[in-house]
Amino acid sequence: MSTPAKIGIVTVSDRASRGEYEDRGGPALKQYFETVLSSSWEAFSVIIPDEQELIESELKRLADDEGCCLIVTTGGTGPALRDITPEATEAVCQKILPGFGELMRQESLKAVPTAILSRQTAGVRGKSLIVNLPGQPKAIKECLDAVMPAIPYCIDLIE
Ligand code: MTE
Repeated sequence: MSTPAKIGIVTVSDRASRGEYEDRGGPALKQYFETVLSSSWEAFSVIIPDEQELIESELKRLADDEGCCLIVTTGGTGPALRDITPEATEAVCQKILPGFGELMRQESLKAVPTAILSRQTAGVRGKSLIVNLPGQPKAIKECLDAVMPAIPYCIDLIE
């Protein structure tokens, strides 16, 4: 039996990390993967505030120490002053994959005109693929449906 794939699920939100707001992104991501993945997988979930250093250290921990093949973040991709998830992602990745953000925005535009406000990106750190998603739970399916077909192949290429 093969070992379960490890997936990091990172909710980036000041309010959710303080417990003032229920994290809906993390559970939506878990539910999404439960629906689409046929093989076994294990979730490594965290909720952290919009602090660049903290986001970077969590991404590094999930990639380097936990060995997650895929890490998805939700939140902090917009234009607000504290939105810093794409910068943290780019800082820890050796390679940026701009096509992920381009395709997710393109597909999201069919659902919401505000899709262009997300600066979401993706990249590779070691053997981990990191993908940013907006914070809205409904954005998770809209975005992941677009890029999911490329994810297993990307993970194979970086393994
Ligand atoms: N993309 C999809 N698919 N669905 C959405 O509802 N919301 C947009 C955009 N992208 C949205 C979306 C909005 S309103 C914002 S402000 C940005 O994502 C950034 O969201 P974030 O700061 O929560 O990451």
